[in-house]
Amino acid sequence: MKRPAAPSPLVLSLLLPTLAALLPGDAPAAEDAPTWSRDIAPLFQEKCVSCHRAGGGAPFSLVDYNGARRRARTIVELVERRQMPPWHAVGGDIPLLDDRRLTDAEMALVAAWVEAGRPEGDPSEAPEPRVFPDEWHLGEPDLVIEMEEAYDLPADGPDIYRHFVIRTGLTEEKYLRAIEFRPGAPSVVHHALIYVDSTGRARRMDEADPVPGFTEMPIGEGTGRQIAGWVPGATPRPLPEGLAHRLEPGCEIVIQTHFHLSGKPESERSRIALYFGDEPPQRPFTSIQLPPAFGAFAGIDLAPGEDHAEVRDSFELPVAVTAFGLQPHAHYRGKALRLTAALPEGDEIVLLNIPEWDMKWQEEYRFAEPVHLPAGTRLESRVAWDNSAASAQNPIVPPVRVRWGLQSFDEMGSIDLFVYTEGPRKKAETAMKDLRSAYRDHLVWRAGSHVLGPDKLAVFGELRERALARFDTDGDGYLDATERAAARAVLQGPLP
Ligand code: HEC
Repeated sequence: MKRPAAPSPLVLSLLLPTLAALLPGDAPAAEDAPTWSRDIAPLFQEKCVSCHRAGGGAPFSLVDYNGARRRARTIVELVERRQMPPWHAVGGDIPLLDDRRLTDAEMALVAAWVEAGRPEGDPSEAPEPRVFPDEWHLGEPDLVIEMEEAYDLPADGPDIYRHFVIRTGLTEEKYLRAIEFRPGAPSVVHHALIYVDSTGRARRMDEADPVPGFTEMPIGEGTGRQIAGWVPGATPRPLPEGLAHRLEPGCEIVIQTHFHLSGKPESERSRIALYFGDEPPQRPFTSIQLPPAFGAFAGIDLAPGEDHAEVRDSFELPVAVTAFGLQPHAHYRGKALRLTAALPEGDEIVLLNIPEWDMKWQEEYRFAEPVHLPAGTRLESRVAWDNSAASAQNPIVPPVRVRWGLQSFDEMGSIDLFVYTEGPRKKAETAMKDLRSAYRDHLVWRAGSHVLGPDKLAVFGELRERALARFDTDGDGYLDATERAAARAVLQGPLP
């Protein structure tokens, strides 16, 4: 076969101007092409600058033309792959609040703008820059607390998880309706989870560690009561009407911060605004976590290289509930999470679907409208992991065997569904008791079947009693130290 001759330099020089005209550049745009000022700036203000602005947590600003123009190519690429704006819950049946996704038309607009050569258009058409409250989104807080000391971070290195304890100084019980988190160094704070501790345990852990804060959080014993989470761009929201967390006098707040280093040394000192209600909560609410205990008893065991390992759990609601939000949780190798509700009449609702989990976005989702789930509804959760070398998220390559554990290099996986029980107060409280008791049984069954196998559940008396006693005292759905040790022994050793 005859190879086609390479084009001569002359032909190339004739072709180049034509090629250049075909490539996106800053060439004058067609009349009707989208412009920055008229089309793109308003869109980016709505969908991007909550994060992409100074102090917003994203690596660069998309507030003005130059910032966007320089990164146009990456922008189109990430927008077309639906990687930006970050939004991982897709394909569920229930609309979620603050859905950040671009519509198909908006995606096409961004692509058309870049194809047209990123024209700026008439700057007088550009909208006024969106104003973000310097202070708190939800207005004047009732109490602002701050990390007692700043925590210094190096320029580079692996991600850091750290817990910080803050005194509230509360002298009476308060009804917490909303919480807003403000990182001191937003460029390094990847996410934060906020807990209440009334036991002094977190304080003791802090005191035992010479540097501000401490590393490993004991689950349970009151420190496990998570009250809020934060990711960049998250919108703080009050709980639905009539709901509140009770904060005991003298309780302390614990922040678990995941740091992702930025290339320069930073110093973090976050603040938290607390908003209290005047009225005690009108009805109880809880979270149904499936599988329970972040998957401690779900038999998570990922073989090295396995690209799909799945854990399922299911729980039948003994009473009707109203579901108002969701919190998925998994670590690096998490791949997909899904929660469905099979209604007694036979319909199935997809409450949450995350086909591509990204551990950096531990987002709390709120349904746009609360969802009524009748008694007899079966909730079904599915969590899948990818422990292959091909996964860009795998922190250890070549892959190793991975089981359940507290460190982010271990795995966890579960979905919390936040619900309240229905009807007048007394009825709602009775229903909540029934719900918690059924959930306790589920946890015990889960723990028992994992430790001993479903056929040997009868022998499970002692752990069952302990678990029941534990959940009778505070019902928060987490493990105490003994159970944690048991879970660890099981997960790290051979099954009894
Ligand atoms: C909720 C916060 C948030 C919103 C909203 C958001 N981004 Fe981002 N963006 C980030 C963060 C954080 C990063 C850094 C990468 C990461 O951590 O995933 C990023 C990274 C990027 C990158 C660079 C990635 C790279 O690899 O260089 C581009 C381009 C981008 N975003 C474009 C956009 C555009 C365009 C929009 C709006 C249509 C948008 N983003 C909305 C938070 C956000």
